[in-house]
Amino acid sequence: MKNSFYYSHNRLHCENIDLLSFASEHNTPFYLYSKQEVARNCQQVLKAGEHVDFLPCFALKANYNPALLRIIRDLGFGADVVSGGELTFALKLGFNPDKIVFAGVGKTESEIEFAIRENIHSINVESEQEYDTVAKIANKLETPVRIAVRVTPDIDARTHSYISTGKHINKFGVAPHKALTIYNKALSDPYVVPAGVHIHIGSQIVTPEPFKEAVRFLRSFTKQLTDLGVTLQFLDLGGGIGINYTNDFRSQQQSTYINDILPLYLDGLKDLNLRMVVELGRSIIGSAGILVTKALYQKDTGVKQFLIVDAAMNNLIRPSLYQAHHEIVPLLLDERPHKVVDVVGPVCETGDFLAKDRKLPDIQPGEYLAVTGAGAYGQALSSNYNLRPRIAEYLVDGGEVRTIYKGQTIEDIFQEFEI
Ligand code: LLP
Repeated sequence: MKNSFYYSHNRLHCENIDLLSFASEHNTPFYLYSKQEVARNCQQVLKAGEHVDFLPCFALKANYNPALLRIIRDLGFGADVVSGGELTFALKLGFNPDKIVFAGVGKTESEIEFAIRENIHSINVESEQEYDTVAKIANKLETPVRIAVRVTPDIDARTHSYISTGKHINKFGVAPHKALTIYNKALSDPYVVPAGVHIHIGSQIVTPEPFKEAVRFLRSFTKQLTDLGVTLQFLDLGGGIGINYTNDFRSQQQSTYINDILPLYLDGLKDLNLRMVVELGRSIIGSAGILVTKALYQKDTGVKQFLIVDAAMNNLIRPSLYQAHHEIVPLLLDERPHKVVDVVGPVCETGDFLAKDRKLPDIQPGEYLAVTGAGAYGQALSSNYNLRPRIAEYLVDGGEVRTIYKGQTIEDIFQEFEI
């Protein structure tokens, strides 16, 4: 099957859409997604889980656009939510409550009550005090709740420190011995069912090793739980599978690491005969989205060359926040000479850049670029900094393009204030 993004006659296409024509008829910057790519990523996940009792969930934090969520839901996915807001979106969009898992270090009492009343699949408990709150509310409502304790296996995910989560220096989850105390408490509570174990070791992981360590950890930890008298029903394995951020669409490159990692991971735990939940964000939606931007100006300071574009850190903060690399490609490929530039936005911060010291064709004002791998943690982490309205999102499906978020106007933002 053809790549979802590819060059044809030197023009970048998404499915059957010529993006240069599309961009020249629309305001930039904008996000654009490929339905085929989302579906393909979901299918890979489903295939990997074919032989186990499997509940693949999509982590809404990566992208909560309802049109995208609906595609993912229709393919049978559940939802991984981390706030009352995400839970509301998941329910409104028809995700089956029995396929919703709720994680997060700081769930409020009202969020916990909301989740228990909706009878979701499970709540991932991240501290002993949070456990006590969950137990108190379940007892008050006289409604049973399934929990998984989020355990930190102290595994180095070998990824950026801001997105590494499985170590004891991170705020997430509890150490194994603390988790045992919580399971013990749950064993004697009439309304709390200690049904699962949750881990999530980090994000953008591109090698199987950290997951293999996680398998070893889970095998020994579940044994300890059985010895304690806990009857487990499921393992929630978190997310974390990386994508290829160096895909420039010029060749057939793999866009995600789903196939390299997920089958191994699931196989390593299959014989435990437990339901396996995964919470995937980036690997489902990351490769399916691009950020299209227009060049505004070139600037040469004598020591550095800048290409100033109309997208900025408020649209895509990953380069500024994590020094993340995103490939940047022209919508029109030609033979012109290259030069090394910093690609920067209009926001008033030195840290506002999309790429540093990047070799690119000599892009002129008015020409278009696509930032690749922008589908996850792109629009979801956007802000109105510098009073820049949120930008539109489009969805390509074959030869059709649909607006799936119209973007804000400055008037929309102004209206939210009381003067
Ligand atoms: N489950 C839990 C408990 C998580 O904390 C996360 C991500 C996921 C699942 C989904 O992980 P994924 O499959 O997307 O790797 N903003 C950062 C990433 C933050 C990840 C936060 N947690 C970035 O842009 O790289």
